Amino acid sequence: MSTTDPRNVFLRACRRQPVEHRPVWFMRQAGRYMAEYRAIRERAGFLEMCKTPDLAVEITLQPVKALGVDAAILFSDILIPIEGMGIAIEFKPGPLLPDPVRTRAQVQALRVPDPHESVPFVLEAVQRLRHELPPEVALIGFCGAPWTLATYAVEGGGAKEFTRMKRLLYEDAGSGELLLRKLAQTNAAYLQAQIAAGAQAVQIFDSWAGMLAPDDYARWALPYVQQMIEEVRREADAPIIYFARDAWGAADSLRECGADVISVDWRVPLDVARATLGTDVGVQGNLDPATLFAPWSVLQERVDSVLARAGDAPGHVFNLGHGILPQTPVDNVRRVVDHVHERTRV
Ligand code: CP3
Repeated sequence: MSTTDPRNVFLRACRRQPVEHRPVWFMRQAGRYMAEYRAIRERAGFLEMCKTPDLAVEITLQPVKALGVDAAILFSDILIPIEGMGIAIEFKPGPLLPDPVRTRAQVQALRVPDPHESVPFVLEAVQRLRHELPPEVALIGFCGAPWTLATYAVEGGGAKEFTRMKRLLYEDAGSGELLLRKLAQTNAAYLQAQIAAGAQAVQIFDSWAGMLAPDDYARWALPYVQQMIEEVRREADAPIIYFARDAWGAADSLRECGADVISVDWRVPLDVARATLGTDVGVQGNLDPATLFAPWSVLQERVDSVLARAGDAPGHVFNLGHGILPQTPVDNVRRVVDHVHERTRV
């Protein structure tokens, strides 16, 4: 099955085909910076929003309507699929896991669930979104990378130094690796199910990849991402985007991940990223999210600089270097979308 609709510039850019204008979307484009999101958030909890298809569909569509982006990303969270493995999750508002995974027995007890049983609400939202979105707007599904999800599972929430996670790997590598493997299997099946339900591309978020030294990245992060990508490709041919935040020190490994597009943060100039990664992979990024708070003259200059460094070769998707921040002025985000489209129209 070919998932590339010729009307869709985002999907064609992911496949490094020429496009009429540079596609734009933003990581965390649905969220608290939008009044429409806050209105729903006032009457519903975050998990309830993720688990109620009516709400997840509505929130996913909010930035598409308000900003004119070329892709919608499913409204959900990377932690949603680990509940079905047997790991309880809460949000206050950041993730909080009341019963962290710390022992071999706990790792062994984790399940690799069937997504149709563990997250039917996600698959329903994806199906409905595909029907509601116009053909020129792509639907992106997503999941977390095994390393990043393992840090939440073991640390019990966000962390600074990741000593619990790293200690697990130093002291009992077998248990740490079993946890990473189960997360890879669970999330590969999860991505496959999202694609089968109508997601046309998927992104793997490795937000904490930058906490690993390059050799440790090559041992504890990369192989599980490769395993996931191989498993997804066996069933589906949707473009796969990999975002490894702050991991440019492991650039040699990144080249080996097998994704169609590498999403880079703002610490790496895109011309350097392209020269290092080569021509058989696309790049996504990489405006610093904080520049969205700048006056338009400054912001415009930064956007133009990203476009200039990306160059004119096919295979660039405009995005931020990380997620939109909560207080971001919506008008600036909208202006960036219009500006990128106008500046790059051929
Ligand atoms: O991009 C989108 O618009 C889709 C929705 C999305 C959310 N989380 C919604 C969300 C996506 C793709 C994610 C991914 C995610 N979740 C990541 C990877 C991306 C990244 O930012 O690095 C991570 C690390 C998480 C874990 C997570 N979930 C954190 C750290 C937090 C707290 C952050 C905060 O801003 O408070 C969440 C909660 C969360 N996920 C919110 C949203 C809109 C805020 C919840 C609220 O409204 O209170």
